[in-house]
Amino acid sequence: MGESFSGQEIPDSWPGHLWLEGRTIVHLKDGQERPTHMPRGPAAKSGTGFMNPAMAPARTRSILLLQDALKHGWLNGNRPIRALDALCATGIRVRRWKNEIESNLLSRLHITANDLDVNALDWAIHSIHSDVLNDASFLPDDEQDLPNFIERNGIRFQHCDARLAMVQGSFQWIDVDPFGSPISFIDGALQALGRAGVLEVTATDTAALTGSSATSGKRRYGHKGIVDFYAHDDAVRVLLGTIATRAAQLDRAVEPILALFDGHHVRVSVLVRKSKQGADKTRELMGWRLRTEEEPYLFVRHPSPEEMKRSSGPMWIGPIWNQEICSRLTEDYAVETCLAKTGDIERGRALGLEWSDADHLYAEREIRRSVRHIADAAPLLSGDHLLLAFDQIPRLANVGSLPTMERLIEALNAAGHPTARAPDLRPFIATQAPFNAVIEVVQSLQSTE
Ligand SMILES: C[S@@+](CC[C@H](N)C(=O)[O-])C[C@H]1O[C@@H](n2cnc3c(N)ncnc32)[C@H](O)[C@@H]1O
Repeated sequence: MGESFSGQEIPDSWPGHLWLEGRTIVHLKDGQERPTHMPRGPAAKSGTGFMNPAMAPARTRSILLLQDALKHGWLNGNRPIRALDALCATGIRVRRWKNEIESNLLSRLHITANDLDVNALDWAIHSIHSDVLNDASFLPDDEQDLPNFIERNGIRFQHCDARLAMVQGSFQWIDVDPFGSPISFIDGALQALGRAGVLEVTATDTAALTGSSATSGKRRYGHKGIVDFYAHDDAVRVLLGTIATRAAQLDRAVEPILALFDGHHVRVSVLVRKSKQGADKTRELMGWRLRTEEEPYLFVRHPSPEEMKRSSGPMWIGPIWNQEICSRLTEDYAVETCLAKTGDIERGRALGLEWSDADHLYAEREIRRSVRHIADAAPLLSGDHLLLAFDQIPRLANVGSLPTMERLIEALNAAGHPTARAPDLRPFIATQAPFNAVIEVVQSLQSTE
């Protein structure tokens, strides 16, 4: 731990100005503007104390998944989960875990928050004042602080390189959210997970993952990209494939839980288990996306030299979600868990938060958006499916106009082909229908209109 990290330094420009993310009060630095609701795209700023509001939906989903693991016991039964936010910055994610996960589950959740930036950690520690007013743990009492960490409101804050934090501990849940590529943290995270654990990874180097930056895609991920309608899905699968490949080298098997391209970043959550046999099986789910004359694409284990030009990969070609878990991520469940209650807003106002009815309304919309389409698409994205860009369908079906997306989904389902909208900013459908069947249904809808 760095010498200057005492947890008692008043950070420069403290307390900043207040914002509410989920049920948690955020102290924003004075230089950071009040976020607009539903911010999108990469952060205009970064650096110490900057909290990226565009990542709020990813944090909301992280709360829901961790709560789901505690509630339904699919990770460690009824035993505790040790969770590490390895690059926690100003601690918004760990504070949200603590504030928003049901209180009856918290005794089984042990949280460690780590970062290399002392100022960000000081900011995180002071922000805890907003979570537990008058808590005795704020008294400057050196004795309660063990040498390696500072504990506030049950969260252990520590200052070291994330890779060291991983080597030093054993966790069941690790969050890796760096600036840019996560590649240098993946091996350490996989090894720091116990017999079974969840690894959540954010990657903002989307140009490398989609293939729009061919050299960095090749260098970092060994990936050859094609920038077309499938670039976002490719990016998700390339990151999953990278994690699965590294995991297999370490005798670990990977099962995706939830994986999304969300505007300017890719975020994947995977269950990792120690298993040589499982590792061999997950290796078999690596392959390439081949564009063909007859179909928009097929997944193949390896393209022939002639097919290479029309192929992107290597990437994960198996299911990208867990059906049972994702089916529970409904909008109402997200609102119930993460939308601020009257008491949260009143506590914020007592500290100086300005929060109008319109803010509350927008906050609810944003929380709903965080999980929109996930529960409905869960049965599709947890198995083999065909992904189609909705606005490409007229060209593919050779028809002049499109039915609405709802009408097409309804017609495909009625024809016995499970179909749903996939959660991407662009409209995509995921279907179990063979490509020809989609074309037939589109053409029949055209002729009945
Ligand atoms: C994108 S920010 C994390 C944002 C945070 N997870 C959130 O939700 O607000 C990346 C953080 O990684 C930290 N960092 C960069 N390299 C690190 C390393 N090797 N070990 C630990 N922290 C590191 C930076 O100080 C920065 O705070």
